[in-house]
Amino acid sequence: MKEIKAIVRPFKVDDIITALHKIEGLPGLTISEIKGFGKSKAKNSEDSIREGLHDFVEKAKLELVVNDELAEEVVNTIQKIAHTGNPGDGKIFVIEINDVVKIRTNERGTDAI
Ligand SMILES: Nc1ncnc2c1ncn2[C@@H]1O[C@H](COP(=O)(O)OP(=O)(O)OP(=O)(O)O)[C@@H](O)[C@H]1O
Ligand SMILES: [Mg+2]
Repeated sequence: MKEIKAIVRPFKVDDIITALHKIEGLPGLTISEIKGFGKSKAKNSEDSIREGLHDFVEKAKLELVVNDELAEEVVNTIQKIAHTGNPGDGKIFVIEINDVVKIRTNERGTDAI
């Protein structure tokens, strides 16, 4: 099992989710509004916001836990739609997941995804 954690431009979210819905067997998704900075640092960016001592850019975070077979397709779909070619397009992190517990049914592992 893999967690795919994607940090993307907020205006791309609707199109990304539309594309992800087309993947058969996609089990679920969590989305959050976040802010952060990358290597190129937010202060060099037009859309940065100053908070306290630091500059941040607003982004969206998508988190999906999927079985190993689905992971590559999810990553490729997000990358294809999120790409503009400009600095700040975001990143996709792929994390190995050890276990999942489905609270209602007590299922574990891939059955619980
Ligand atoms: N190494 C990292 N760890 C955690 N979050 C990160 C990391 N790199 C980027 N992010 C998050 O992703 C967002 C977008 O990063 P961004 O695409 O600007 O990265 P970058 O390395 O600066 O690349 P670019 O040169 O394309 O701007 C950041 O605002 C931050 O929220
Ligand atoms: Mg950047």
